[in-house]
Amino acid sequence: MNKRLNIGVFGFGCVGQGLYDVLQKTRGMKADITKICVKNRNKNRPISMANFTYDKNDILNNPDIDLVVELIDDADEAYHIVKQAIMNGKSVVTANKKMIAEHFEELFILQKQHNVSFLYEASCCASIPIIRNLEEYYDNDLMSAVEGIINGTTNYILSNMIRNNLSYSTALQQAQDCGFAESNPYLDVEAFDAKFKISIIAAHAFGVFVNPKEIFNYGISKISLHDIRYAKEKNFDIKLIAHCRRNEEVLGVWVMPQFIHNDHKLSHVTNEYNGVLVEGAFSDKQFFMGKGAGAYPTGSAVLSDISAVTYNYKYEYKKFSQGERPEYSLHHEIDIYCRYHVASDLEKIPLHTIHEQYSSREYNYIIGSTTIAALKNSSIEQLENIFIALMPDR
Ligand SMILES: NC(=O)c1ccc[n+]([C@@H]2O[C@H](COP(=O)([O-])OP(=O)(O)OC[C@H]3O[C@@H](n4cnc5c(N)ncnc54)[C@H](OP(=O)(O)O)[C@@H]3O)[C@@H](O)[C@H]2O)c1
Repeated sequence: MNKRLNIGVFGFGCVGQGLYDVLQKTRGMKADITKICVKNRNKNRPISMANFTYDKNDILNNPDIDLVVELIDDADEAYHIVKQAIMNGKSVVTANKKMIAEHFEELFILQKQHNVSFLYEASCCASIPIIRNLEEYYDNDLMSAVEGIINGTTNYILSNMIRNNLSYSTALQQAQDCGFAESNPYLDVEAFDAKFKISIIAAHAFGVFVNPKEIFNYGISKISLHDIRYAKEKNFDIKLIAHCRRNEEVLGVWVMPQFIHNDHKLSHVTNEYNGVLVEGAFSDKQFFMGKGAGAYPTGSAVLSDISAVTYNYKYEYKKFSQGERPEYSLHHEIDIYCRYHVASDLEKIPLHTIHEQYSSREYNYIIGSTTIAALKNSSIEQLENIFIALMPDR
């Protein structure tokens, strides 16, 4: 029997307000917002001030509140709030991928100890229910891979560059003007956001916690119109793709830009949309697409988690208890394109085999084989005038 929930919400920004609206409009949800905790005392709010508090303990120590919905933009503070809420016996729904990825194992243990729900569908692909599907639908399938476009900001920028021939800085500015990129876009454009998300997905797909610090991420900030021209000449598109892929007993997890054929499913995922390919031994390949950000798409995922808490739903982390789990490894072989400026740059590119090399007065590139480990150890992301991208799957 479903119970009526009293909710304490943290944050009333894009997602918090989205959730509030979605909750007002939905029918049959047995949940009410008791209090909303925010930070800035000088902000005008679109609803009565009686709904708000600035003291987190008004929610965390309120015995009538069963569920904390954490939707703030400060991952460190979010961690303290979520941890305290769980320790106080409250269920938690959160959208904060950085906070989850950085404290995953600890929070996993804590929610088990306190026997509460700890749900976070909105943290990964907003409107695409990837976590719940991995937990419930693919619970007994032997997963081979989950990969795709899981950051709307970079997809918006890359779509604009390739469609409209815009420079990176112009495309970024447009994304900021349209609200698809934050004023400080670092976590998105350098692929940290996608890395946090894929580490959460990897746990539910393969039963392995991977510390985000051990995952290779390479973003899009060094891309130039030369790379876009190369892609177009080859009938490729370019996307920031997060991978988690099992190869026998080994699991590879990484995020980097990738050329894909322009008839590939992921090529049709444009602007702020996300697209995820799931590959299982029995189910074969499925493709999910939907809005990966925004007030209502994200609010809808939070709403679905709240609904799940009303019937005491908890993730079971089934892949952790199913036979041999793969071992995380950086030794995955890949072929990359690397655009560079001067010949001396070549020494910094850790290729063990070269397949193709091109030089012109305008730009140079080299295509060769390497490993994720070699890229991670090379600190290639810090090199200016170099841009790397994964070649399409053979
Ligand atoms: N935006 C999206 O499309 C999206 C999609 C998926 C996941 N997420 C995740 O959802 C979370 C919220 O994102 P957002 O875009 O809604 O952020 P936002 O628009 O910047 O809003 C942040 C909210 O957090 C509040 N806040 C900050 N620190 C606080 C504290 N210490 N105590 C109480 N409230 C505090 C702010 O209060 P004030 O109102 O007083 O400033 C504000 O209401 C983030 O973890 C984000 O990664 C966002």
